[in-house]
Amino acid sequence: MARPCPLHPAAGRIRSLMALGALLAAASSPAHAAGPSAALVEHGRYIVHDVGMCGDCHSPRDEHGNFIQARWLRGGPIGFEATHLMPAWAGDAVDLVTLAKEWSEADLVAFLRTGATPRGTPPARPPMPRYRMSARDARAVAAYLRSLGK
Ligand code: HEC
Repeated sequence: MARPCPLHPAAGRIRSLMALGALLAAASSPAHAAGPSAALVEHGRYIVHDVGMCGDCHSPRDEHGNFIQARWLRGGPIGFEATHLMPAWAGDAVDLVTLAKEWSEADLVAFLRTGATPRGTPPARPPMPRYRMSARDARAVAAYLRSLGK
């Protein structure tokens, strides 16, 4: 055991108390809760970026038509219109980083598997595709979106 400092006899005790505090804080930290695996999050990144192309509609562009990288998936005007009459059409796509924090994981998974939203009706309007993802793909997309903006 370390010898108590002659000038500050309480220092040793304070140090052990601080160590105990750090231990307790680490034990209750959410970082220790079992989150989605890195492989699942990576699969979600692949679907969002390379298959579902979510960013094509859910990311705003600058005046030259280039994506604003700092606002990737942050929603905005989609910048194109249907050339024929549509019963419904959404000119703006939502901020997916914020939405992934507001909707539960189960809401997101259900939406990506069936198109059902937590509010019931109205459903998401075109051009939002009605995806029919597998349970694993939907969970992966939800895990990836929820990992953003932390
Ligand atoms: C072709 C354009 C397009 C693509 C691609 C696209 N979205 Fe969307 N999305 C939209 C638009 C537009 C809306 C807004 C619909 C509305 O307001 O009714 C939307 C809405 C949503 C919503 C909210 C739905 C609601 O009704 O509140 C979620 C969640 C969503 N998109 C997720 C995704 C994900 C995840 C991907 C990729 C896997 C994706 N979107 C790909 C255009 C798109």
